[in-house]
Amino acid sequence: MYKPLTVNDEIIVLIKEYLDRECLGENVREEASRKLKRYLIRTDDGSYTLPSKKLSGKSETMHTIHGAITEAYEKFVKPSQLENRDNIKVLDICSGLGYNSAALIDHIKAENILIHMIEASPEVICAGVLVPSPIPAHRIVKRAYEEWLLENGLARFQMISTEIPDNISIELFCEDARQTLPSLPQKYYDAIFLDAFSPPKSPELYTLEFMLELSRVIKDDGILTTYTSAAPVRAAMIEAGFHICEGPKFGRKRGGTIASPKPIGKGLSWDDERMIALTDVGIPYRDPNLEDGREEIIKRRKSERRIVRNANMLPSSYRTPIYLGRELPEKHARRILKNLRRIGIHDTFSKEALYIICPQYPECICGCKSLRLSSSRERILEMRNRLEKVKNGECISCSK
Ligand SMILES: C[S@@+](CC[C@H](N)C(=O)[O-])C[C@H]1O[C@@H](n2cnc3c(N)ncnc32)[C@H](O)[C@@H]1O
Repeated sequence: MYKPLTVNDEIIVLIKEYLDRECLGENVREEASRKLKRYLIRTDDGSYTLPSKKLSGKSETMHTIHGAITEAYEKFVKPSQLENRDNIKVLDICSGLGYNSAALIDHIKAENILIHMIEASPEVICAGVLVPSPIPAHRIVKRAYEEWLLENGLARFQMISTEIPDNISIELFCEDARQTLPSLPQKYYDAIFLDAFSPPKSPELYTLEFMLELSRVIKDDGILTTYTSAAPVRAAMIEAGFHICEGPKFGRKRGGTIASPKPIGKGLSWDDERMIALTDVGIPYRDPNLEDGREEIIKRRKSERRIVRNANMLPSSYRTPIYLGRELPEKHARRILKNLRRIGIHDTFSKEALYIICPQYPECICGCKSLRLSSSRERILEMRNRLEKVKNGECISCSK
């Protein structure tokens, strides 16, 4: 059975040993917290994170080192625009140490808050109880985590004294999120936090099929937030019916992604839209039955990229499509032209080139005179459609 990526093995062993001892009646929680300190990584705002297990020799931290709890507010809670809602329902996927839900409880003063948390690893749930709380509201999550450990016979002592307020309801699912999603109700959540490790490490939670599940459970005006700006993830969101825009940049070079069934924000940059619409980086991860392993999902995308590159889409090399309608850089001009010509575009100002990128301009630049499109999603789909026509040699001057 597939094992989702989680914290490193030494931490798992430490926590398993602690839980076993507690179940035998030894009260050793303080000792376990002390031992866990060896693995805690202090981030810039003073809150702690933990390292993942290594994959291909590399480990990731669970949060940005620029500030773990700040990231929870800036990348997940604030962009979810929940401030003026009274009864809110939030799905916290990959709830980890519980920082995103804690920041939500602290920041949002709604009449009622329901949180569904999904975390694959019971040891990470236990780490959420042992880690120093970065903000007081985190103790509410700790209490919910501790209750789950007690109910499931994994711990024995109820030691967190903080009560869960009456207006907050927290339910925890400890399993691969792909197992949970199909059982969740339609159009239910006001916000979804998607906080998996990066796409190459946890591709199962960024596939087209997983995004289709997210689009099924989110309300029509709900908001999905994630820290990643990866093109295949954004492409999967678009194919699953979401509108998308760039999220806040905190702690990373690029902003994350905010998605919603309704049009949202200013959209993406023109360059990002073109890379997703026209090149093989816009091929999403696929997982037809929501059950494949990491390697299989990555391999499938690699082979789909190979098939479409140069045949149906432009290659992403040299960021080829960003030069459509622009002067070519001297350095890679020859290569870029070669990429374009393979698919029937003769130069960067040719009628085919202008026809493909026309949907991005406030006024028609190619004579198609079609209506202007107001969202990234619509522009991406239309540019893709036009690329297909150019590739098939269809008459583009007469298309509306
Ligand atoms: C980047 S960390 C999330 C940090 C977290 N949001 C927090 O506030 O601390 C990713 C988490 O996802 C969990 N995870 C990885 N793959 C998963 C899967 N397929 N389903 C559910 N959880 C998963 C890991 O165990 C890890 O705790």
